[in-house]
Amino acid sequence: MVVLGLETSCDETCAAVSDRHHNVLSSVVASSLPHHVPHGGVIPEIASRHHLESICFVVDEALKKSKKKPKDLEAIAVTQGPGLIGSLLVGISFARALGLGWRLPVVGVNHVRAHLYAAFIGQRGINFPFVGLVVSGGHTSLYRVHSLDHEELLGATRDDAAGEAFDKVAKILGLGYPGGPVVERWARQGRPQAFGFRCDCGPGFDFSFSGIKTAVLYQVQNLKKIYGRLSRATVADLCASFQEAVVSNLVAKAMRAAATSSSKILVVGGGVAFNNYLRERLQSAAALYKIKLCMAPKPYCLDNAAMVASLGSRLISAKGRKAALNLDTLGA
Ligand code: KG4
Ligand code: ZN
Repeated sequence: MVVLGLETSCDETCAAVSDRHHNVLSSVVASSLPHHVPHGGVIPEIASRHHLESICFVVDEALKKSKKKPKDLEAIAVTQGPGLIGSLLVGISFARALGLGWRLPVVGVNHVRAHLYAAFIGQRGINFPFVGLVVSGGHTSLYRVHSLDHEELLGATRDDAAGEAFDKVAKILGLGYPGGPVVERWARQGRPQAFGFRCDCGPGFDFSFSGIKTAVLYQVQNLKKIYGRLSRATVADLCASFQEAVVSNLVAKAMRAAATSSSKILVVGGGVAFNNYLRERLQSAAALYKIKLCMAPKPYCLDNAAMVASLGSRLISAKGRKAALNLDTLGA
């Protein structure tokens, strides 16, 4: 099924076209990030205005790059939530209008599920059940996934999401926004054991990342009291030690969930899965514990519409699930 996907849940306006084999024919992303950077985080009003300004161009580009015409499309998939309400509404209203004009079914897709199923882009079949880990700026959750629309939540963050913790630590260190990529860069020059940071949230599958963010803050305040400022080596050590603690915690919990599951398959997606250190650690642990690891390819870890088109197409193929044209947001 040739599907046009739309994603506007946060600060990126995305459109993509996928074919019947879940291959991505085009994926276009227009980010409003530069407009948010001075504020140190995403400003919802700026994001939704940017979506309004960009969406026509982004959809045109996605169609052009895919070499498909509207008449070649068989469905439209759009992110229904969770996300910023004003931003979601732009994508949903646009999808509804296109569906009406081009006489196409419109299917709503859950953003968190789409991050997980990004691991299957380009693959026809999916082996259920599997354990799924979504690590993004808004979510850190472990699921036992039984089918396309049935998953059991094993655990989730009790406070900050992992990506949010990267963003906050970068802010504490004055490294800018978004924090993930910049903390990862600094961490490469630092020593992961320099500070004994730990993420601890008991033996279950829940996560907690706000304590480690506070531990970094107190460490920075103490060091500044003693030395006046942080040296580059100290910043690198702080980043490496923080990243080490977060990654170790994510890997340990995800591996334990997968190792105790029937299928021993672990699927990982979301913006933090872009992190090379996390990817390497997951790969070595999976080899050690004989877990089959499926990670979202790097181009489809951060927000994109290819993951929305691909999951939308699977949903329609499996269930014939068409949303009515009064499709609404699923809330934040
Ligand atoms: O999935 P995503 O694009 O948006 C949400 O659905 O939240 O994830 C964005 C998050 C941000 O918090 C960002 O700092 C984090 O992913 N991120 C990273 C890296 N690249 C992006 N975190 C760690 N390492 C990275 N290289
Ligand atoms: Zn996302």
